[in-house]
Amino acid sequence: MSSPSAVKQEVFGKMSDGREVKIFTLTNQNGLEARVTEYGAILVSMKTPDKVGKSADITHGYDDLAGWLTNTNYFGATIGRFGNRIKDGKFTLDGKPYTLATNNDPSGLPCHLHGGIKGFDKVLWSGKPTAENGVQFTYVSKDGEEGYPGNLTVKVTYTLTGDNELKWEACATTDAPTILNLVHHTYWNLSGDPGTSINDHVLMLAAPNYLPTDAGLIPTGVIAPVAGTPLDFTKPTVIGERVDADFEALAFSGGYDHAWVFEKGTGVRLAARVKDPKSGRVMEISTDQPAIQFYGGNFLAGTVAGKGGVKYARRSALCLETEGFPDSPNKPSFPSPVLRPGETYRHVMIHKFTAEQPSSIPSESIT
Ligand code: BGC
Repeated sequence: MSSPSAVKQEVFGKMSDGREVKIFTLTNQNGLEARVTEYGAILVSMKTPDKVGKSADITHGYDDLAGWLTNTNYFGATIGRFGNRIKDGKFTLDGKPYTLATNNDPSGLPCHLHGGIKGFDKVLWSGKPTAENGVQFTYVSKDGEEGYPGNLTVKVTYTLTGDNELKWEACATTDAPTILNLVHHTYWNLSGDPGTSINDHVLMLAAPNYLPTDAGLIPTGVIAPVAGTPLDFTKPTVIGERVDADFEALAFSGGYDHAWVFEKGTGVRLAARVKDPKSGRVMEISTDQPAIQFYGGNFLAGTVAGKGGVKYARRSALCLETEGFPDSPNKPSFPSPVLRPGETYRHVMIHKFTAEQPSSIPSESIT
């Protein structure tokens, strides 16, 4: 266990209103380095070694706070109150209707996305090092913020372990009934070269089902099997093999951008495994959540200049977002996103980083 002083703390810059923003650097004995900031409780960068020990940043983002303040893609962000989409930005809770901002409109169909106009990814959290080589961020979201009810206190902790795990753990309490779906939204390209496509990454999702959507990317309410579809990643599969297959769910989102549903169960279990055959880097994600959104970066358009001035092209990164079900506030058959006074929301997401020698990469995954 590392002492709190192992966490390096610096000033990252200032918000437009003059408030100071801190950035923290977590390192471990194996050469991993994670940087996290109070702005948006964002993972700014994640450096991991490849199969020959060469370290690289494997995340999309910006070089400085000024860049992060323009982050419309949710790079690295902690998203709330409700990650993913809510149909028409409307829901009813305990008989009372609520209207949220509609800040997204796939196929011209408006919806609420990722917490609204100024979600948790765009606010200043308060960060402090923990005794376990981590940083805990706190944010108090006022009753009515972005249209959501209840004063909500949220804590998000990033921890870098000696076992090469980056843990993102969230908990929250409220003083009035509300809805909640906190999501961690890093864009990964395990090659360390953001100029390349993630279509050559090999993905396994430990999920037998997915949520079909309408053209507005809102779940229909059906939980459908992935078997026999291009969404079946139960066996490790190269992402690009089927991403452009003739399949309605892929057509709606221009590629992979769906919620996969795990077998019912409790506790933290393996959700996804992704590897880049070139660098040998592997990332495993474990969670206690019922679903994971795999977003293949289809909406990146080569227009945003990020770290080092690189323009992030379509499918140059992927997101694996553990979560509750999208539009669950409007779907009584889905797991409930309602948080009530006296309850504690909890969400654990663990990223484990390794690198495999070419000889240890299973042959079925090399194409
Ligand atoms: C969603 C995409 C959306 C993206 C925005 C993802 O979580 O699934 O549809 O475009 O976030 O960054």
